[in-house]
Amino acid sequence: MESRRILVTSALPYANGSIHLGHLVEYIQTDIWVRLQKMCGHHCIYVCADDAHGTPIMLRAQEEGIEPEELIAKTQTEHEADFSEFLIGFDNFHSTHSEENRNFAEDIFKKLQHKDLINTRSVIDLFDPEQKVFLPDRFVRGTCPKCKAEDQYGDNCEACGATYSPADLINPHSALSGATPVEKENLHYFFQLGKLEEELKTWTQSNSLQPEISNKISEWFEDGLKDWDISRDAPYFGFEIPGATGKYFYVWLDAPIGYMASFKNYCERSGEDFDAYWNADSTAELYHFIGKDIAYFHTLFWPATLMGAGYRKPTNVFCHGFLMVNGKKMSKSRGTFIKARTYLNHLQPEYLRYYFAAKLGPGINDLDLNLDDFQQRVNSDVVGKLVNIASRCAGFISKKFDAKLSASFSSECEQAFAEATAANTEIKDHYEQRRYAEAIRSIMKIADQTNQLIDQYKPWEKIKDENCKEEVHQICSFGINMFRLLIGYLKPVLPELAGKAENFFNDELTWADLASGETLPEGHIINKFKPLMTRIESDKVEAMIEETKEQASAQAPVISASDPIDSEISFDDFAKLDLRVARISKAELVAGADKLLQLTLDLGEATGGLEKNVFAGIKSAYSPEELEGKLVVMVANLAARKMRFGLSEGMVLAASGDDSGLFVIHPDSGAEAGMRVK
Ligand code: 2FM
Ligand code: ZN
Repeated sequence: MESRRILVTSALPYANGSIHLGHLVEYIQTDIWVRLQKMCGHHCIYVCADDAHGTPIMLRAQEEGIEPEELIAKTQTEHEADFSEFLIGFDNFHSTHSEENRNFAEDIFKKLQHKDLINTRSVIDLFDPEQKVFLPDRFVRGTCPKCKAEDQYGDNCEACGATYSPADLINPHSALSGATPVEKENLHYFFQLGKLEEELKTWTQSNSLQPEISNKISEWFEDGLKDWDISRDAPYFGFEIPGATGKYFYVWLDAPIGYMASFKNYCERSGEDFDAYWNADSTAELYHFIGKDIAYFHTLFWPATLMGAGYRKPTNVFCHGFLMVNGKKMSKSRGTFIKARTYLNHLQPEYLRYYFAAKLGPGINDLDLNLDDFQQRVNSDVVGKLVNIASRCAGFISKKFDAKLSASFSSECEQAFAEATAANTEIKDHYEQRRYAEAIRSIMKIADQTNQLIDQYKPWEKIKDENCKEEVHQICSFGINMFRLLIGYLKPVLPELAGKAENFFNDELTWADLASGETLPEGHIINKFKPLMTRIESDKVEAMIEETKEQASAQAPVISASDPIDSEISFDDFAKLDLRVARISKAELVAGADKLLQLTLDLGEATGGLEKNVFAGIKSAYSPEELEGKLVVMVANLAARKMRFGLSEGMVLAASGDDSGLFVIHPDSGAEAGMRVK
């Protein structure tokens, strides 16, 4: 078989937020595909990077009072740790804020200019009259001009997928100040996409893009290709455009170029030949895995950038849908906006890898993580069916047959093994075509048949009869060989489990081994079997949800200073609030909580010495010592809430600015614990 040279990417995560389970659908999908290619002996390289530029990152750094460079470095460390624990096997992980990327971005821009694909013109921009800045698209919100969905971003509509410019929005407002933006003239740089229309059409039609994406692209062509605005104004965190002081490359220009930059960085480390993968006549394959929301960037802007600059085009772009949890959009308050780290605090990464694989298809429909089904499916398939095969056979081999395997099986078992081997072609094809759910279905069918055969032979009964010893040896050896085959088929999905199983067999599995139809040789010694995976316990899943809810509630009381004062309450509503002065008699750190402090609040003589236990999200602003003895104001009649760390029986009032700290409300001296605040 000829070995292919394949370069694979996943979308670059923004460097201002944590990786969450929604992101992981893509990284797990890509990683499985890459591991399959590597197992098949292909030369496959998987690169990624943090997407480090743009306004949101700049603003986030300002909020934290640090330089953007510090923010992106901190985030990269966090992202890399999350990815590595989820067993995402990048060959390289870089950053778009790198010298390689600056060089490519500048060079590509100059090449595009040289080919007369860039022009400039003055446009009317939206300007925030309060903050005195031009507003980036994402900071203008309003009603979609096409489908009239409310509260949409200024660049595209999440409801109907339309793309437009922020000035097209109905009732636009600044997301920074809420002010109505004013129009102001500003010079912009444009990539004249229309000039490449024919070439782009040829590319999109000559490639086997997913049908849903092809249809979308046809609509985009029908709507007409507009010039792409690739400049943004200072203040901006990014690369300045050569020859244009104060103008920066829009983050989406240099983000996909980051794929090249990360690969270049890999080449410098590994000696791989960059040109062989990126020159216009390259015979290597190039695949981008992305979410369906960024298809326009990857099927039009990005190929156009590559064409214009004289590079090769992607072989294909694979889009996937979004993650839903329990049938609904991920939500902070429902506790389903689960960060990678929060998941890892409670559950093993391979559970999720398996579940996603079991549900992933080649299309762009959304994937639902139903938490009950997740637990049930993993426990039943991986623990109940797969690992069970080894655990019911290995003990007998070790104890009764000196850990040595037999290489002869009954004819029925021979046939089962041959059929399971023959299935390798179909399983490999399912993986290759990203029909992972089907691959898993085929694999589990073999696991079921294997268990049935073992059930039929009943080695646990036959072992009592000395005459049946050989039969027991054979069926258990068959079980171990089938287990080895199944583990091999699942290796792209469960690499850690496969690694442990390989230690147990004393060999390393390639796809060629699986396809060979060979069993382990007569007398092959297996190592002591240890349980390879344990069941998912319900309390672990619940604790993960609880922790996610706490993250949301630790942030919840902090209302932004720029939030409009618009939702009225009645006087009766107000009268219901029992606000009291309380003395913090004890303040303690909470093990395992990033934001919380545990406070014991003394409500004073007037209440008969009532004490309340409150978990308050104020750890970022106060040390426990500073708080003890302090008078604060609390909502004393708030219904108690069960949190992972205990019961929280109220809330402490605090003030917060948009980018300043957090300040508990502290009555003037003379106030006493227990007093009502009105
Ligand atoms: O949508 C996103 O999260 C972007 N950061 C993806 C960029 S992918 C590539 F083009 F860089
Ligand atoms: Zn719309």
